[in-house]
Amino acid sequence: MRSINEQGYLFEEWLTPEQIAKDIKQVANRISADYRDKEPLFVIVLNGAFVFAADLIRGLDKDMRCEQTFIRVSSYFGMSSTGQLQFIVPLQQVVENRDVIIVEDIVDSGLTIHQLKAYMRAQGAASVRVATMLFKPNKLEYDDAKPDYIAREVTDEFVIGCGLDFDGFRRNLDAIYKVKESK
Ligand code: IMP
Repeated sequence: MRSINEQGYLFEEWLTPEQIAKDIKQVANRISADYRDKEPLFVIVLNGAFVFAADLIRGLDKDMRCEQTFIRVSSYFGMSSTGQLQFIVPLQQVVENRDVIIVEDIVDSGLTIHQLKAYMRAQGAASVRVATMLFKPNKLEYDDAKPDYIAREVTDEFVIGCGLDFDGFRRNLDAIYKVKESK
């Protein structure tokens, strides 16, 4: 099994690139079916979701007309949440009357999604759903943040890879790695 060291922590490969690709394709198929007659706007949450989003949107039906835009918020430092959401890159597209799909890398406490959903609704979105690569159900603290589309549910441990970082590093890993031991 592949393992890597990051800042003194040992991470072991947990989900292979093939497993993740299969999970993401299933989500893309579901979204394609659910939005068959619509033109959704994917709001991709930077930085982490860019890898998932790239695979997701390329997995959609070829007939689907859709747009993408980006937003950046920050609530995490190291391996724990600060609980404070900051808008670093604000929404640059009008979401009024649009069917919005927020694209996240991972939903943990749900704070980020809770706040983003409220924001999209306040901006007049016709509908707001959430697609996430990973979901930690045991960590969820906000009921309304349960994602509509989940590539894979995971346990509570900190994970990196496929866009997920540890202080900005390791997003480039093509598999998901789980933390095993601390220093
Ligand atoms: P939430 O607001 O608590 O749901 O946290 C969501 C954000 O926290 C994600 O977009 C990630 O940036 C970050 N995060 C949560 N868990 C992990 C993890 O296991 N690895 C890397 N980032 C994580």
